[in-house]
Order: sequence, then structure tokens, then C-alpha cells
Amino acid sequence: MALTSLLISSCLLFLAASPALASNSEGEALCAFKSRLSDPNNVLQSWDQSLVNPCTWFHVTCDSQNRVIRLDLGNSNITGALGPELGRLQNLQYLELYRNNFVGKIPEELGNLKSLVSMDLYENQLEGEIPKSLSKLKSLRFMRLNNNKITGSIPRELVKLSNLKVLDFSNNDLCGTIPVDGPFSTFPPERYELLTICTTGALTLYIFTILSNISLYIFSFENNKRLNGPELLGLASYDFGC
Ligand SMILES: *[C@@H]1O[C@H](CO)[C@@H](O)[C@H](O)[C@H]1NC(C)=O
Repeated sequence: MALTSLLISSCLLFLAASPALASNSEGEALCAFKSRLSDPNNVLQSWDQSLVNPCTWFHVTCDSQNRVIRLDLGNSNITGALGPELGRLQNLQYLELYRNNFVGKIPEELGNLKSLVSMDLYENQLEGEIPKSLSKLKSLRFMRLNNNKITGSIPRELVKLSNLKVLDFSNNDLCGTIPVDGPFSTFPPERYELLTICTTGALTLYIFTILSNISLYIFSFENNKRLNGPELLGLASYDFGC
């Protein structure tokens, strides 16, 4: 009996200690990310893995349980690739990596960030396709991938992102057609004020901004030379032009 309760209490102790372990593993993930970056402005100088957790590091924000919820590295002159370890920041809500020189592909592991509200990767040098796994980001409201070198078609799976309010894919090299279901269908041009549609041969500019009662929705696909416009309006198949 005594042994059983001793075992139970040590298990409870272990469970109580696990948030700290989680924070440490997040610190390790961030250090793995840092290790492949070039950081001429030393914005990552405070990222010291010997600390108990990453919560005192600059550009990292934690919640009251020391779990990383924000990564703010916009405009930091950083060069390098995004890595799979970013997918280990289980509670991340804001991934702000805009206006740097990030290269390579968007890791499919970013689809593991179940709490992500904002993914701002705009104005980098990212290439490759938009991973289908990003359709798992059920909390996502802002998805800005504009001004990169992203190719391929817009994954139709993204129609599952029912909370999307702002999506900017402009200034990339996307092809095919724009999905019209899910969040994409909440804003059919015929039902709302369409501020801008500009077509020159292939659709090159397709922006609509809708003011509903409280929210501003912006979906932008402009300047993707091989993108063919919304599925409904197109007579072509989904990946036509890819
Ligand atoms: C960005 O980093 C480069 C070195 O890679 C440096 O020459 C340049 O001055 C930096 N730019 C800014 C705005 O700090």
C-alpha cells in the first residue's frame, strides 16, 4: 500500500515537472532553428540554451505556463532556412518571420502548430510549394506568404481553414485556380462589394476587401502570373496552368 502511494506521488511529481521539460524542449527547438541561421545584426544574441526555458529571450514570448506563444523576428535581417523543429513549438500562436532573407521551403511540420493564429512569412525568399499540411492550422486567422518565390497550385485543402480572415499570396509564382469553398467561399464577389478585380489576359490581380459588421477580410492573389482566377469563373480544371 505504502509503495503504491509512493509510486503515485512520484508520478504526480513527474507530471508537475513536465511543463518545465516542455519549455526546455522548446528552447532546444529554437536553438536548433538558430543554429542554421545567419544573424549579422545579432538579434538572437540572448538565445542562451543554458537557461531553464526560452521565456527571457528577446523576440520570444511565453504564456503563464512558460510555453512559447510568440516568435517575433520580423525585419531582422536574418538569412537561412526554416526547419522542421519550428513544428515543435506546440503552443505557438504568432509566427512572425516577415521581411528577412529566409530561403528554402516552408516546412510541412508547421502544420503541427495547432494553436497558430498568425503565420507571417511575407517578404522573404521562400520557394517550393505551400504544404498541404497547413490545412491542419484550424485556429489560423492571418496567413501572409506574399512576396516570396512560392510555386505550385494553392492546396485545395486550405478550404478547411474556417477562421481565415486575411490571406495574402500575392507576388509569388503560383499557378492553377483559386479555390472557392470554405473561407474562400464566404466572400463570393457577387454578394459583396468587390473593390478591385483587374484582369489582363490571365488574371493577375484579384483582391477583394469586404467589410462585414466587425471584421475586415482581405484575400489577395495579385501578381502570380500563372494563376487563373477563381474556380467558379474559370472553365478550366483546378490545376490548369500548373
Ligand atoms: C544586413 O546584413 C548585412 C550582412 O549580411 C549587412 O551588410 C547589412 O548592413 C545589414 N542590414 C541592416 C539593415 O542591418
